[in-house]
Amino acid sequence: MAGKIPQEFIDELLARVDIVDVIDGRVPLKKAGKDHKACCPFHEERTPSFTVSPDKQFYHCFGCGVHGTAISFLMEYEHMDFREAVENLAVRVGLEFPVETGAPEIKRQSLDLLTIVEEADQHFRLQLRKHPQAETAIRYLKARGVSGEIAAEFGIGYAPDGWHNLLDSLGTDLKRRQLFSTAGLLVKKEDGSYYDRFRNRIMFPIRDSRDRVVGFGGRVLGDEEPKYLNSPETPVFHKGAELYALSKARGAIKAQQLAVVVEGYMDVVSLAQFGIQNAVATLGTATTRAHLERLFRYCPEIIFCFDGDRAGRDAAWRALETTLAVLRDGRQVGFLFLPDGQDPDSVVRAEGATGFNERLQGAAPLPEYLLRHLSDQVDLTRLDGRARLIEQAKPLINQIPPGALRELLLDRLAELAQIQRTSLSALAANKPTAAAKTPPKANQPPMRQSLVRVALALLLQHPRLARIAGDVDALRALDSVPGVDLLAQVVHSVTEHPGLSTAALLERFRGTEHKKHLEKLSIWDHMIPEKHVETEFRATLTKLRARLRDQQTQVLLDKSRSEPLNDREKAQLRELLARGQA
Ligand code: UTP
Ligand code: MN
Repeated sequence: MAGKIPQEFIDELLARVDIVDVIDGRVPLKKAGKDHKACCPFHEERTPSFTVSPDKQFYHCFGCGVHGTAISFLMEYEHMDFREAVENLAVRVGLEFPVETGAPEIKRQSLDLLTIVEEADQHFRLQLRKHPQAETAIRYLKARGVSGEIAAEFGIGYAPDGWHNLLDSLGTDLKRRQLFSTAGLLVKKEDGSYYDRFRNRIMFPIRDSRDRVVGFGGRVLGDEEPKYLNSPETPVFHKGAELYALSKARGAIKAQQLAVVVEGYMDVVSLAQFGIQNAVATLGTATTRAHLERLFRYCPEIIFCFDGDRAGRDAAWRALETTLAVLRDGRQVGFLFLPDGQDPDSVVRAEGATGFNERLQGAAPLPEYLLRHLSDQVDLTRLDGRARLIEQAKPLINQIPPGALRELLLDRLAELAQIQRTSLSALAANKPTAAAKTPPKANQPPMRQSLVRVALALLLQHPRLARIAGDVDALRALDSVPGVDLLAQVVHSVTEHPGLSTAALLERFRGTEHKKHLEKLSIWDHMIPEKHVETEFRATLTKLRARLRDQQTQVLLDKSRSEPLNDREKAQLRELLARGQA
């Protein structure tokens, strides 16, 4: 296939790259037995279920089920496309990228999508200047105090009312309509026709870290619901990782060594208008590990400033819980609580940059917020209240990586709970409870143990077993057993390319219908202890061969009932029956 990266190159790459190294640079890992662990960067959790196996060169989260190779990790975590991920790893291990390959399909689709989204961005901006109804949108922005200058800086646009404004202007042929629909800008109806997703909304373009527009947030002009409509997840738009205005704010974040995280697009816009340039917003989702890791790459301090309402306070506590595990020494997190009913937009408009900055100075450091929030829920004058405080605080504090911060928090907790620091340490050092230790398996439905599954799983998890697989091609005749063909394919891959790791093996099936199934099998816990793996693999293949003999015997016996067998068939049947008894 033209433009495809040669599989040998991927093999070689994965043979040189160490997945532990690749991930550890982004999500600090801790050694746990043969594997390495961390709290999962793809979902919120308190006890680490994200596991990286150096043997398999594969990662897997027992909590949310994500898994993959070093290439997949970069694709998921850094939002690279396949080629970018491969290139990135190649540079890392000093492999020359093969030149003869052109742009592969995957990259083309993302590029097409980015172009389409870019066109929509131009379109929305043009509508704000030229559309006959733009006056209402401009009036709305003015009423909210948004200057023309700042609107232009953020590329704010307008999606006029009506069902086919963008459709008529840009959806000129079917291929383009399909792309606009994949980009979440057109919606496809049952009858195959399309309509505009964003209608009568102020449009906020959302840019990725490379400053390319990847999605939009659209706000209604009145009180209709939903107030904001966001682009859905698309191959180029991932809410759990992008932050509104990050590419724009990055310079200021680096210069001031501080990032301010707010909830709303309008908050970011207003803060910038008042000269506070280091603010970013989540995209209507909770703060994720990926968000935090991204920001901590540019600065050591983050201040969360959520709205002064119930939802804002809940969001702050959730953000705290997510933050704990990434709080290495040297990283600081603060929480700024605004008066009830206020948001950063209203505060900066009422108090100016000076007022807002003063509030930032007074933000509660995470340790203080953590202990205050928990203390507020108990009666510290009572013994059982203080015990409860310890119970609640302990698991949270234990998530903080060991270091000065954790020790100081424990000091403070001991003071509050009026307990000896040494007794507290003993309590705090307690192993996580059994419940916390057992990884949630919610996303791992039990798999049926069929012979082929066991064989495939063992082979994927220990590719060296291919050596002892023997002749697997004959097994392909086993038509009553699904999967033998795939088993044979995998055995061949390994025999032809000895030394392939689990990950490299899986990469060979990227883009095929088997990928998902094989990935599942490669992390499936088949309960076979390491030392019995070879015996079990042999035994499984023996059973499969016995099945094959049964099948062949049956065929010949059936045939003999309707017609006489020839000499060759008779000999074969004799042999089969003899072997069956052996
Ligand atoms: P807010 O309602 O606080 O937004 O929601 P805001 O920016 O302050 O809105 P206005 O314009 O000043 O009234 C915060 C964020 O939550 C997401 C959006 O990302 C918004 O910026 N959100 C909110 C939605 O995705 N959908 C909604 O319906 C509301
Ligand atoms: Mn607001």
